Amino acid sequence: MLFPLGGPVPESEIVDRENFIYSLQTRLAEGQSIMLAGPRRIGKTSLANEVLRRLKKQGLYIASVDFFRASSKRKIAESIIDSCLENRTGIRKTLDAVWDQAKLLAGSAKIAVKLKDLEFNMGFPKKEMDEETLLEYALNLPEMLSEKDNKRMVILFDEFQDAGQIAGQEIYKQMRSIFQLQRRVSYLFLGSKEGMMQSLFGGKKHAFYRFATVLPIPEIPEDAWKSYINRKFKDKQIEINRDAVLVEVIRLAGGHPQDTMLICSEAYYTLLETGQQVLTSDIIKIAYERAMASLTPVFDEILDEYKKPLQRDILRRLAVRENIYTESKHPNEVKRAVDQLLISGVIEKEKRGRYRFVEPMLQEYILRNY
Ligand SMILES: Nc1ncnc2c1ncn2[C@@H]1O[C@H](COP(=O)(O)OP(=O)(O)OP(=O)(O)O)[C@@H](O)[C@H]1O
Ligand SMILES: [Mg+2]
Repeated sequence: MLFPLGGPVPESEIVDRENFIYSLQTRLAEGQSIMLAGPRRIGKTSLANEVLRRLKKQGLYIASVDFFRASSKRKIAESIIDSCLENRTGIRKTLDAVWDQAKLLAGSAKIAVKLKDLEFNMGFPKKEMDEETLLEYALNLPEMLSEKDNKRMVILFDEFQDAGQIAGQEIYKQMRSIFQLQRRVSYLFLGSKEGMMQSLFGGKKHAFYRFATVLPIPEIPEDAWKSYINRKFKDKQIEINRDAVLVEVIRLAGGHPQDTMLICSEAYYTLLETGQQVLTSDIIKIAYERAMASLTPVFDEILDEYKKPLQRDILRRLAVRENIYTESKHPNEVKRAVDQLLISGVIEKEKRGRYRFVEPMLQEYILRNY
């Protein structure tokens, strides 16, 4: 794929973010914990992976857990333990290797040796442990490991707001009480449900209140996109007939990273299919329509949650930027609908009580269909 889509991108494909990555790296290495919340597909995981890669290169221990993938308390615990121990053993599934006796005989004896001293200190986690004990072990492991090996450690928790749904809300309190005593470990919390993340970290009554520094994810500047897109097409000997063509791509995607990639990608395929070598404004128009068509099922699924006439009307009003509070509607009901859109990351607050669509192509979709 010329333009990466759908998941975290490798270092060479990360557009801009250099200063932000460096800032995150420095803060985390110094021991500061950080929370980043942002809507779907704006590049959180790509950013975090790159920061971790650099921290590892810098000599720190790293670990990462994706709560979107974990299905139970036990899986969370195993994932933390495996990811921590990987720093020692170099293999991803250390627990399996040690727990599986057949494998142990075959070759993971070496692994067991590498972990011998841990066993001495806090015992090695046993397969028979119940999930509560295993989780307690997992949460305490990072500090113990970094102390033993005299390394600082950084742990990434991706889609952190899902932890409570998987393991119950008490998990946050349990985590906080253990994490706040750790001296050598810092945490990078990511979440795509901004509302939930904000309340976890910003609400006085919530477990992670003031535990981490909350940073906004900066937008990718237009110039960074331009030089990236230029470079990619140039690699394929494709000429861009005017600079304005690139400006148009960026404007059509409205600053949304994945949609920018998607339009570029569709433009590239359109050129391939038609055997052309010049990217023109006409190609971009076709690419935009193709991108829109491929997003239709995604948008329909999002909009499926807003079927009530009042909700639809608010979406339409937001899309055309009309006043959403009208005499015919009860303000509380309007507020409830708006809050729901904010929580699910469809819209975000702008200055002075205005809202904007996180994904401008969704706004266009609503304009066309409602
Ligand atoms: N800085 C960037 N450079 C290049 N592409 C980006 C960037 N940020 C986001 N993207 C695009 O967005 C897609 C998703 O990136 P990533 O998985 O890192 O985002 P995310 O915010 O973690 O998304 P999700 O909410 O799905 O977890 C990438 O495949 C790429 O197309
Ligand atoms: Mg992600």
